[in-house]
Amino acid sequence: MNQPYASQAVKTGAVSAPAYVKHAGLIEWVARMAEMTEPDRVVWADGSQEEYDRLCAELVAAGTMKKLNPAKRPNSYLALSDPGDVARVEERTFICSEQKEDAGPTNNWMAPAEMRQTLAPLFKGSMRGRTMYVIPFSMGPLGSPIAQIGVELSDSAYVVINMRMMTRMGKQVYDVLGSSGEFVPCIHTVGAPLQAGQKDVAWPCNPTKYIVHYPETREIWSYGSGYGGNALLGKKCFALRIASNMGRQQVAQDGMGWLAEHMLILGVTSPEGRKYHVAAAFPSACGKTNFAMLIPPQALGGWKVSTIGDDIAWIKPRKDPATGQMRLYAINPEAGYFGVAPGTNEQTNFNCMASLKENVIFTNVALTPDGDVWWEGMGPAPAQATDWQGKPWTPEDGKAGRKAAHPNARFTVAAIQNPVIDAAWDDPAGVPIDAFIFGGRRSTTVPLVSEARNWTEGVYMAATMGSETTAAAAGQQGVVRRDPFAMIPFCGYNMSDYFGHWLGLGKKLAQQGAHLPRIFCVNWFRTDENGKFVWPGFGDNMRVLKWMLERIEGKAQGVEHIFGTTPRYADLSWNGIDFSEDSFRKITSIDPAAWKQELQLHAELFDKLKHHLPQELVEVKAALEKRLAA
Ligand code: OXD
Ligand code: MN
Repeated sequence: MNQPYASQAVKTGAVSAPAYVKHAGLIEWVARMAEMTEPDRVVWADGSQEEYDRLCAELVAAGTMKKLNPAKRPNSYLALSDPGDVARVEERTFICSEQKEDAGPTNNWMAPAEMRQTLAPLFKGSMRGRTMYVIPFSMGPLGSPIAQIGVELSDSAYVVINMRMMTRMGKQVYDVLGSSGEFVPCIHTVGAPLQAGQKDVAWPCNPTKYIVHYPETREIWSYGSGYGGNALLGKKCFALRIASNMGRQQVAQDGMGWLAEHMLILGVTSPEGRKYHVAAAFPSACGKTNFAMLIPPQALGGWKVSTIGDDIAWIKPRKDPATGQMRLYAINPEAGYFGVAPGTNEQTNFNCMASLKENVIFTNVALTPDGDVWWEGMGPAPAQATDWQGKPWTPEDGKAGRKAAHPNARFTVAAIQNPVIDAAWDDPAGVPIDAFIFGGRRSTTVPLVSEARNWTEGVYMAATMGSETTAAAAGQQGVVRRDPFAMIPFCGYNMSDYFGHWLGLGKKLAQQGAHLPRIFCVNWFRTDENGKFVWPGFGDNMRVLKWMLERIEGKAQGVEHIFGTTPRYADLSWNGIDFSEDSFRKITSIDPAAWKQELQLHAELFDKLKHHLPQELVEVKAALEKRLAA
């Protein structure tokens, strides 16, 4: 792989790196980027607590963050962003592969040379008056054979402190990198240079934004935004867009490659002590964090859920050391949670609320008069508050439709604060996956749960998934869009090739007699005639999870329908809940007319993705149409 920064000689002495940085190519790159962006100073972040505390104090002094009342929320902060910088900007996100068809029709594309020309004047002098931080990080446990290293250059101290929570960040990364190790160079600027003597604003950013990936040279360039998904480059940019490319490119080396997925990973232990691992893909702001931390209803008799990850999974095939059989193992490349705050409360996600008691960075939630935070859906509204734009807010404003917290307000917290963190969450070997779950947010059409008949049909179901859009991305909300594998904003290459990669991996694993995970599709979000969710969701999702695991054990029954198997009312456990058979019918019914229309949307998707679309998927679609017609 072309790694232009891994081993170049130092050409300039413009930056002086600490003695523990031994990588000449890295120092040369930092010097070159500093020459281009012209920061006042370059600071090599070491990841220490002292550094974190100092940067937080600086951000408080700059007005970017407020320290929360330590008696209420120890060691925690609130940042309020610019109102125009609150979410991922998909329209401004680019995959700049040499060939347009390698980015595919679902990504914005520009030729690398043209994009470099476009970005050059923007990055030139973009850090003037600011500090450039050099942020070394590992995605995955440090030194693990699965982990990958990145170095982010950023002129945002907010990025430094968030990266320290979200990744394994700090000078220990240089020990792993050594003098010639590979790393993904990531450069980020808020794009707001300061003239001499000019006073800074609390949340600098630029109305022009570019989130750019060069998959062939494995580089990330981000301009103009300070929002997490656009600026914490280890997350969506590296761990999904660049890593998905890495996983597929690996096929050329070992015939199988690996997967970088928008998936939570959870451990689930049965009352008898049998442990399973499940990886589940849902679009942004559709409850991945809640599902990863769910508390099973006690009436189900002692099931336990533990969290390995809440957003991203790197999944690799290898032999199970006990049985010698090939399996898929998953790690969480992240070390923290950057979750959606609104809607989170002690009932919907008790464990998340427990994780948020201290050491948290909140962004765009409301501030209460006693120096704590509040958001819609957290609990009773305070009589008054300061909203996410710094304006006074009362429940009257809420009634008039003005939210106190932005719907995409976030918390950043270290994974180890989660009371149900899985003992293996940090295991470099990963955990063996028993089931994949794919879910969208659909108020109609899609049943509560179905199990795919086989890997290919499971890939079809995931590939054609639709979901109503949420506030996690800028743009219209609540419209159904096709979101294959919940990866539409994150797949760093042609989506049809991505389907082919999933099919190919499944085929190769099957040829080797592997233990393949089962594939399920879920929809927690069907609504009734009044627009209310019918399914209680949250902890009660355990009822569905239990059915899936019992299917794997060969115990649970269901009924076959056009795309697989769905439980009948009697196949789920209803202990401790009053949920009628009639309600169950509402969320599991399959309306042939609605599915005819749905298949029409699949056809439109396949037409858009026709270049390299695997023939197997076209065949599954034809078979579904036949079953539907019958
Ligand atoms: C996220 C997202 O922040 O998906 O995880 O937007
Ligand atoms: Mn996500």
